Formats: sequence, C-alpha cells, structure tokens
Amino acid sequence: RQRPVIAIDGPAGAGKSTLAAHLARRFGFLNLETGAMYRALAYKAIQSDLDFDEEAPLLALSGHTKIELEPQREGNRVLLDGFDVSARIRDADVTAAASRISVHPRLRAWMVAQQRQLGVMGGVVMEGRDIGTAVFPDAEVKIFLDADPEVRGSRRYRQSAPAAQQKVTEEAVLAELKARDARDRNRAESPLRPAEDAIVLDSTAMTLEEVLARSEEIVLQHL
Ligand code: C5P
Repeated sequence: RQRPVIAIDGPAGAGKSTLAAHLARRFGFLNLETGAMYRALAYKAIQSDLDFDEEAPLLALSGHTKIELEPQREGNRVLLDGFDVSARIRDADVTAAASRISVHPRLRAWMVAQQRQLGVMGGVVMEGRDIGTAVFPDAEVKIFLDADPEVRGSRRYRQSAPAAQQKVTEEAVLAELKARDARDRNRAESPLRPAEDAIVLDSTAMTLEEVLARSEEIVLQHL
C-alpha cells in the first residue's frame, strides 16, 4: 500500500471513535469504524428475526448483504443495502446484538476481508477491536486505548442524551459495557487484546486533550 494504516483498538467507551475521528482529520486520512459493520449486520439479523447465537443463518444472511461506510467529518455514515442506518444502529438492542454476533469466527472472517479491502490503499484510521491483531497486523501505527471500566461507564452515561439518561441508570450502562467487554475478551476468534507491538494508552486519568495530544505524538513518531 502507498500510505500508512493507523489501527485504534480497545474496549467499549474508551474514546476510540473520538480519537480516530481526530487523527483522521489531523493527518488527512479516512476514518473507518468497523464496529458499525457489526452493528449493521446485527440490525439486519434483528429484522430477519435470526438467533444471534447461531452462526450458519447469520453467515447466509451476510451473503446477500451490502454494508458501506462513508467517512464523514465525525464518524461514518452507514449504508445497509443502500439504506442509511447510521442512527438506528446506535440503539441499545442493536448494540447488544452486535456484541453477540461478533463472536462467530466465519462471520468475523467475512468482516475482516471487507475491512482489508477498505484499507488496502492505506491512508486510513481504522477503529475496532481486532484491527492491530487481525485486520492489519502490519499497521504502521497501533494504539490500544484503554480505561478503567468505571470511568468508561460514567463517561458513556454522561455523554448520552438527557432523554436516554432518564431511561437507564449509570449502573445499567456500566453493567452492559462490562458484559460486552467480557464477550470481546473471551471469544476464541481474535479476542480483544493489545497487539504485541501496540502502544497501550490508558486514559483513566487523562483528559481528552491529553489523549489526543499523546496520540498525535505517537503517530508522528511512527510515520
Ligand atoms: O465499536 P462498537 O461498539 O460500535 O462495536 C460494536 C460491537 O462490535 C462491539 O461490542 C464488538 O463486540 C464488535 N466489534 C468487534 N470487532 C471490531 C469492531 C466491533 O468484534 N473490529
């Protein structure tokens, strides 16, 4: 490839999307959120009334599914079979379903193949759980953004809209986040963990500005 790949991985709520969008703007790269692809397929699985724990029907579904990521200034516009599902895939039911379908190895292989295509020319900041370990093990820059679960949970809760805050408690947000992490960390196929050559950035005691500045330094050192 002609330009570098920047891989951003880490658990839910660590601030990966904000960081990826910032680095993409800063370096003039495309920002690709791989989680949105798992979410889009999960949404279609919900609509198709499939069992999230059964791989074969999900894989069959993927065979006639087209997922497109359109990089925007903030995040991605997500098209599922040509329809804009960007907002809907952020809902709690899709979030939970995405977490469950993402344990299936052959489904992951389908996702990874497409993600490699998207990044084949380089010049991308790709964000997810397995970018540095499975999608682009040869990425020029790998950042694993972490933070204590309590901090990630409370950031998530405080960032959600007031209407959403009335529907769930901070405890419920934390519990959901921990459950998703556990599933990501314990699955057999490309579990969530830092690549051996990733730089682990723990943002627990850092401000957003510090995380962005430190990450820019890391990118500049490795490009
Ligand atoms: O990052 P986001 O929260 O949008 O991802 C939704 C779900 O998709 C995650 O909980 C995770 O289980 C899964 N995922 C994954 N591998 C990726 C990106 C997301 O397994 N590269």
